[in-house]
Amino acid sequence: MPKETLWPLKPHTAAKHEILRRYLGAWFPILGSKNPRLLYVDGFCGPGRYSTGEPGSPIVAVETAYSHRNNMRANPEFVFIDKDCSRIKNLRSEIKLQPWHEDYIIQTICGEFSQEFPIILDTLVKTHQPSPLFVFIDPFGFSGVPFKLVKRVFSYKRAEVFILLDTARLRRFLGHPNNSTRKHMEELFGTKDVFTIAKSGHDRISALRGLYQQQLSTCVRFVRFFEMLDRNDVDIYHLFFATNSPLGFERMKEAMWAVDETGTFRFSDRTDPGQMVMIGATPNKGLAEQIEKRFAERTVCVREIKQWVIEETTYLPKHVRAALKHAERTGRINVKARMDDGSKRRSGAFPDGVIIDVRPKPMQKSLGLS
Ligand SMILES: C[S@@+](CC[C@H](N)C(=O)[O-])C[C@H]1O[C@@H](n2cnc3c(N)ncnc32)[C@H](O)[C@@H]1O
Repeated sequence: MPKETLWPLKPHTAAKHEILRRYLGAWFPILGSKNPRLLYVDGFCGPGRYSTGEPGSPIVAVETAYSHRNNMRANPEFVFIDKDCSRIKNLRSEIKLQPWHEDYIIQTICGEFSQEFPIILDTLVKTHQPSPLFVFIDPFGFSGVPFKLVKRVFSYKRAEVFILLDTARLRRFLGHPNNSTRKHMEELFGTKDVFTIAKSGHDRISALRGLYQQQLSTCVRFVRFFEMLDRNDVDIYHLFFATNSPLGFERMKEAMWAVDETGTFRFSDRTDPGQMVMIGATPNKGLAEQIEKRFAERTVCVREIKQWVIEETTYLPKHVRAALKHAERTGRINVKARMDDGSKRRSGAFPDGVIIDVRPKPMQKSLGLS
């Protein structure tokens, strides 16, 4: 953890902010147009500015809300927590400099996340129910983020969590004999299973990521992660997004695609941050292959394929058309002339009602969609 109040921005932090900014660019206007209140909590908020001049996550969040104010009827409320009081002080000064500083209710709290957040859940969130709640949890390291607290968030119906898992540091400390380190790990995962990873010979990063994903999946319907790598392409951390909303899940996947246009959901510090913006996805053979595998020997509607793509794959609905076009052209699917409502299908089009016969799984690689 840096000792100074402010520290320089790294490329992977800029990528993290880009995902956050893009997602909130959908979250605020979509939910803010339908709900009278929204609550945004940043539990490890930092000083609001980097020593290199860029805005920190609290400023990113309020600025995004402000830029969508004309499309929102809600006045969002913000809670920012950091245990370092000099960072909170800096954040307060930063907020005062902003054009929006009197437009929103913004609480800045100097304290431990694990102590302050339950109070927020008990008071503010209760009075906000059933307003949407977004919680950003962005710690240094792995202490002070008990899983039971993350789980509690999902007792609120319309809650979403965006959380950083410090996989690199966790890997380094796996098997550490110190009792307090072991306690933090167990609390973070909410299970002693984390200690079995230390003993297994498997890829520890994947095992840590898999265990956290599994834990989140016990309390929420959709979970997606994004991997951050350093200049040498070594893992630094994973960002997890968890929600019960299919639309929220889709929007977060879009935000992640925008930062990694290859769709592998990874960002390396080698990547030029100027190239983080995606200009339209390319037709995707990988998705065509996955569709073929998943629906082999079945007759399905595009609607069903799309729902599966949103919920179970890394792809977006907009990739489905290109993938199906490719599969049709290469003869891997047969498209029926009539749609499910009996109307005629327009050649080359794939609206939701189009019915498709998916051929049997290819037996050899050469039959694949190359
Ligand atoms: C990674 S930085 C946050 C950066 C910020 N979210 C951003 O993106 O601009 C983590 C912050 O958490 C604070 N912190 C560390 N442990 C904490 C705890 N247990 N509770 C609350 N804040 C904590 C640190 O002081 C630091 O400012």
